[in-house]
Amino acid sequence: MLKIGDIEIKNPVVLAPMAGVCNSAFRLTVKEFGAGLVCAEMVSDKGIVFKNEKTMNMLYIDEREKPLSLQIFGGEKDTLVEAAKFVDQNTNADIIDINMGCPVPKITKCDAGAKWLLDPNKIYEMVSAVVDAVEKPVTVKMRIGWDDEHIFAVKNAQMVERAGGKAVAMHGRTRVQMYEGKANWDIIREVKQAVNIPVIGNGDVQTPQDAKRMLEETGVDGVMIGRAALGNPWMIYRTVQYLETGKLLGEPSAREKIDVCILHLDRLIALKNEHIAVREMRKHTAWYLKGVRGNARVRNAINECNTREDLVILLNGLAADAEEMEKSQLIVG
Ligand SMILES: Cc1cc2nc3c(=O)[nH]c(=O)nc-3n(C[C@H](O)[C@H](O)[C@H](O)COP(=O)(O)O)c2cc1C
Repeated sequence: MLKIGDIEIKNPVVLAPMAGVCNSAFRLTVKEFGAGLVCAEMVSDKGIVFKNEKTMNMLYIDEREKPLSLQIFGGEKDTLVEAAKFVDQNTNADIIDINMGCPVPKITKCDAGAKWLLDPNKIYEMVSAVVDAVEKPVTVKMRIGWDDEHIFAVKNAQMVERAGGKAVAMHGRTRVQMYEGKANWDIIREVKQAVNIPVIGNGDVQTPQDAKRMLEETGVDGVMIGRAALGNPWMIYRTVQYLETGKLLGEPSAREKIDVCILHLDRLIALKNEHIAVREMRKHTAWYLKGVRGNARVRNAINECNTREDLVILLNGLAADAEEMEKSQLIVG
């Protein structure tokens, strides 16, 4: 069983942290689809230290999401430690994760995110300082390196372990790759062999079969799934089932997708407000509707919706049409 510090995680399937996506509304939905662990979107250490209202709202966790890992990012020791202490003492997160993977210049310019990957000694110093300041287990999510000339994945993961980090999640891409190219699972395997703390592999797990292959080929303790779960919590459920039983379940119907999309919408409205939630749901809706017949027809209309009622009418209309088509195909077939 995957265990991070004293936190027991019932299966090895982990929802990746994704900024602008992994708030409580989405995480709870994915949790209900069986994820062993869900990760929250990255939160700025300075935002926490200065009690920025938007940042404080990002710290909300529903008890039903647990166990949950909350990720902070920053480039300076003082604020990172202070933010970690705040999360430790004032939230119901189970794990405090440090971001060492974010490739965005706005973040790396402040010596945060993937910038750390160039300096194993800094990793040791910063992780030690956070570990010493908190009770909750501390983990790190990192990329394999900055670019092809600077792949310090093994050394960096060893530094996390030596500093008292309780697990490392390794995305098999460099900072320069951003999200392009192939994730390098060979380096993930090397990292797994080089440390004794749990390693969670990440990058290019698009199907339940990929998840199994990553576990087998790299020996990692968990698989972290990001983009494949967007608008698709079934990916998590199907992966858990496949790993546990060897059975590959089918894809959801249009009706199922739309019902969960509406559940997600209602949770987002409760978390934020209708105006913000309906706008935020535009991107999620496009993800949920991938593969649903007739989706192109409603795309523009969805992007112009401003109320729950309008959006739900469109979605239900689409589901009814898709059901009709499925039925007539069954009769013809
Ligand atoms: C929209 C989006 C937002 C992301 N935000 C974060 C983040 O806040 N923290 C983080 O460590 N990684 C973040 N990532 C990276 C993912 O956690 C993951 O490492 C990456 O998508 C590769 O995994 P995948 O191939 O399963 O998508 C983000 C990725 C995406 C697509």
